[in-house]
Amino acid sequence: MARINQTLGEFIIENQSEFQYSSGELSRLINSIRLAAKAVNHEVNKAGLVDITGSAGEINTQGEDQQKLDVFANDTFIRTLTNREIVCGIASEENDDFITIQGSNNDHKNKYVVLIDPLDGSSNIDVNVSVGTIFSVYRRVTPVGTPVQLKDFLQPGNLQVAAGYIVYGTSTMLVYTTGHGVNGFTLNPALGTYYLSHPNMQFPEDGNIYSVNEGNYIHFPKGIKNYIKYCQEEEGDRPYTSRYIGSLVSDIHRNMIKGGIYMYPKSSKANNGKLRLLYECNPMAFIVEQAGGRAINGDTRIMDLQPTELHQRVPFICGSKNMVDTAEEFYRADP
Ligand code: AHG
Ligand code: MN
Ligand code: MN
Ligand code: MN
Repeated sequence: MARINQTLGEFIIENQSEFQYSSGELSRLINSIRLAAKAVNHEVNKAGLVDITGSAGEINTQGEDQQKLDVFANDTFIRTLTNREIVCGIASEENDDFITIQGSNNDHKNKYVVLIDPLDGSSNIDVNVSVGTIFSVYRRVTPVGTPVQLKDFLQPGNLQVAAGYIVYGTSTMLVYTTGHGVNGFTLNPALGTYYLSHPNMQFPEDGNIYSVNEGNYIHFPKGIKNYIKYCQEEEGDRPYTSRYIGSLVSDIHRNMIKGGIYMYPKSSKANNGKLRLLYECNPMAFIVEQAGGRAINGDTRIMDLQPTELHQRVPFICGSKNMVDTAEEFYRADP
C-alpha cells in the first residue's frame, strides 16, 4: 500500500512481494542505485563550484565528447553496483564493452544485469539545466555460475524486470517500475532520504505538449514533418506547446506529469535517430507503458524490438497514448 511520505526504503520492503523473483535481491539492487544517485546528485549540485564541469578530454564509444560528470557518474554507478552480490554484469553508454562482475567468491553467482545511461543530457551540465540517469534491469539468460555473455544484455525490453530514472532537477527524484505501475520519490537533501511523492504515476491519455529538436526538421521523414505541422495548426486544442530541454529524462518526466509527446525520429542524416535502445529507449518505454503511455519507433513497439548490438540506436516516439497514436498515423502515411 503506497503512502505519501513513505520513505523509499519502507516502500521497497513493503512492496517487494510484487517482484516476481527473490524479494531481497530487488531491494539490494534498488538500494545500490539510490545510493549511487545520492553521490551523483551531490556532485551535480556542486557543478560550477568545483572543477567537475566541462570535457573530460575523451571521445566515448558513441562518438561524443565525454564530460567530466559523465565519467564521474559512470564510475560511481559501476562501483556501487559491483560488490553487492547481485549484479553479474553492467553495460553502460560510456563503455565500449560490457563489464563482467565475478562476485566475491569469483563464482559468477549473481543473477542480474544492469544497463545504464549514467548521465543523460550531459550537454546541459555546464549551463545548469536538469540532467538525469536511466537504468534497466534484466535477469541473466545464461546459467548462473558462468561468466555473463553479450546475449544477457541483448534482451528485448519486454523482458525487463525493473527500470527507472533519476532526474537531477529543481529537486532530485527517483522514478521506477518493476512492472506494477510507476512510483516517484523525491530526495530530501537535508536528510538524504527519498520520500514517496508521486504514487502510481499516470501518463495523461491526451496532452498538449510536443517535444522534438526542430532544428533537425529539414531532415525528418515527411510524415513526421506533417505531424509537427499538425501540432502547430490552429484547431480544437491546437496549436500545442513546444517544450524541449535536450535531456530525455527531463523531457519525458515533464510530459508524463503534464501530458505530451516526445520524438527523436530518424532523419536523412541518421537513419536510426540518436537515442540508444538499451540505455535510453527500453527503460523509458517500460516506465511510460507502465504509466499508461506508449513508446514506438514508428513501426514497432520499442519493447518488442530484438536488440542486435549494445550501442544500437533507434528512432523514438513516446508519450500520451492518443498523441502517439496520431503521430504514428502521420508517420505511417509518409514514412
Ligand atoms: P546523453 O547525454 O546521455 O548522451 O544523451 C543525450 C540525448 C538525450 O538526453 C537528449 O534527449 C538528446 O540526446 C538530445 O539530442 P539533441 O541535442 O540532438 O536534440
Ligand atoms: Mn552521451
Ligand atoms: Mn542519454
Ligand atoms: Mn549519457
